Amino acid sequence: MTKPLRKVVFPVAGLGTRFLPATKVVAKEMLPVLDKPLIQYAVDEAVDAGADTLVFVTNRYKHAIADYFDKAYELEAKLEEKGKDELLALVQGTLPSNVRAIFVTQPEAHGLGHAVLCAKPVVGDEPFGIILPDDLIWNGQIGAGRKGALGQMAALAESEHAGVIAVEEVPHDQTDKYGIVDAEPVDARSARIRYMVEKPRPADAPSNLAVVGRYVLPGRIFELLEQTEPGAGGEIQLTDAIEALLTEQGKVLAYRFEGTRFDCGNKAGLVRATMHMAMQDPKLAPVVREFVGQL
Ligand code: G1P
Repeated sequence: MTKPLRKVVFPVAGLGTRFLPATKVVAKEMLPVLDKPLIQYAVDEAVDAGADTLVFVTNRYKHAIADYFDKAYELEAKLEEKGKDELLALVQGTLPSNVRAIFVTQPEAHGLGHAVLCAKPVVGDEPFGIILPDDLIWNGQIGAGRKGALGQMAALAESEHAGVIAVEEVPHDQTDKYGIVDAEPVDARSARIRYMVEKPRPADAPSNLAVVGRYVLPGRIFELLEQTEPGAGGEIQLTDAIEALLTEQGKVLAYRFEGTRFDCGNKAGLVRATMHMAMQDPKLAPVVREFVGQL
């Protein structure tokens, strides 16, 4: 892709049923890993990749994400008055001043492909990123010379003039939870996708290389999504539109990112992410070690 990536789409209209009853009122993307909500990790990664326009595809009941990135006048005034500069910087730092957040609604839930299509009027015809915030990908503190997964992919998309999709090996019996690719290795991290399929049964899966929640795609995908019929689960699948893009353009890359993925769409993943982050914190690491020892 010739242009650098500027826009990133966050499909966040899901109901988060795996975290009920908390998600009766708390959007699942607002669940924290230590002191940061999942959506903040995702936004930090998008900004690191060069994005200045963030598009949140939400539903009409979810206001928390918009509130979170909005200015908190009263809170900021109080912290300022009390001279709590560090806390003030945290509150003001959820979104850098050069980055704008745009909210579009997905009126009905017809799948990931449909959610992404809702962002078409904002993204238009240019390369863009997609981050599924449930998949937290941690590659150390961004900025300390380390690139987040989407930033790694954006660089590859630009140099290879191709769409790039993040992949990771998963246990064979779990292929029916993911988009699965059949790909021909190019080097240690990237491979050319030959074929991809959404949520195949283990017996039908072409491999155990699964799509995880990061994509860099050309604007053309929107037109292909418009032509995509409901697929697995009766939903409009992004995977099916990417398969059409592959047929049309001949080149889409699968990329094994540098970093660790935590599937925070379920409890075990959220616990793992929390423990991992706690172990990276010099004050919390001894507490976790001692407590796990006691358990
Ligand atoms: C979506 C995609 C799937 C991908 C997965 C990664 O599925 O449709 O291809 O492997 O995200 O998390 P979902 O988890 O929304 O069912």
